[in-house]
Amino acid sequence: MTRLEVGPPHDHEVWIGRELAPPAPAGPVALLYDPEVEPLARRLADAVGPRLQLAVAGGEASKQLSVYERLLRALAGAALPRDAEVWAVGGGTVTDLAGFVAASYLRGVGWRAWPTTTLAVVDAAVGGKTGLNLPEGKNLVGAFHPPRGVYAELTALATLPRRVFREGLVEAFKHGLLTGDPVLLAPWDLEAERPGLEDYLARAVQVKIAVVERDFREGGERMKLNLGHTLAHALEAASGHALAHGYAVAWGLLFATLLGRELGGDDLSEPVEALLAWTEAPAPPAADWETLSGFLARDKKNRAAGLRWVVPYGLGDVRIEEVADGALKRAFEAWRGRAARYAG
Ligand code: GLY
Repeated sequence: MTRLEVGPPHDHEVWIGRELAPPAPAGPVALLYDPEVEPLARRLADAVGPRLQLAVAGGEASKQLSVYERLLRALAGAALPRDAEVWAVGGGTVTDLAGFVAASYLRGVGWRAWPTTTLAVVDAAVGGKTGLNLPEGKNLVGAFHPPRGVYAELTALATLPRRVFREGLVEAFKHGLLTGDPVLLAPWDLEAERPGLEDYLARAVQVKIAVVERDFREGGERMKLNLGHTLAHALEAASGHALAHGYAVAWGLLFATLLGRELGGDDLSEPVEALLAWTEAPAPPAADWETLSGFLARDKKNRAAGLRWVVPYGLGDVRIEEVADGALKRAFEAWRGRAARYAG
């Protein structure tokens, strides 16, 4: 079992292990869980006796206002008081949504996360970003609201289909590009039941904790965690959200590495291509640059000063900067050429 600490001002623990013991909550619990991981939810319910249990299907379709309203009204209907805790059990869409319910119900109650996908363990459940989507775009509504604890239950990860397990580790690989940690750049032998997984996840989570401790509200350094995400969000939108987030980020990472090369940095595209093969990533949508630019313009990271890109110049050397259109288009042509090999 691994225990990681998130330091002040949002002190809490992140646990990674098997059969983790549920903590004692501060008040009555509302258990919001994905029915796909009902056995874990049932174990937590037996331990804590929640006042309310609500099933929330995983997937982007749940991160919407109507589902959010249903959950808030259920909490209000059960008269959950201010010392209540929301316990979120599921993948990133469930922890994002449940965290935002906690952030906004009665102007904010505490919450705890039981991430049950690799993606939620290494990214979504850590760092306190909560929220939901609007028809106009992803994550356009939300709040920074750190959980009181994160409990990564490895037995739940063992139930994931292999492709979903690997897809989520794209975010951990991204942390490898950010830091240059060779272990994070080599997930190839990982499996849910194999011993190396706990250490690997702990390394990946520790990278995120360190960044979030320095820049909780994404004033600067935290933007580096968006490596690969700018194009990824456009690809997700262009695919009508058929392309899963991890795959979109893998394609976005390939674009970012080609952009880094275009701007004079090292060529880091080879390990990303190995990642695309290992995750069995599907081909990205066949959208052209003009189409994707329309989605990029709506990206929430688009500030008044212009769209800023997270550019890897070398392993552990990642910079945030505006990039001229010409370089973007040349990198996109190179990316399109590589992606074409996956089509059909
Ligand atoms: N997923 C990026 C972040 O939490 O900042």
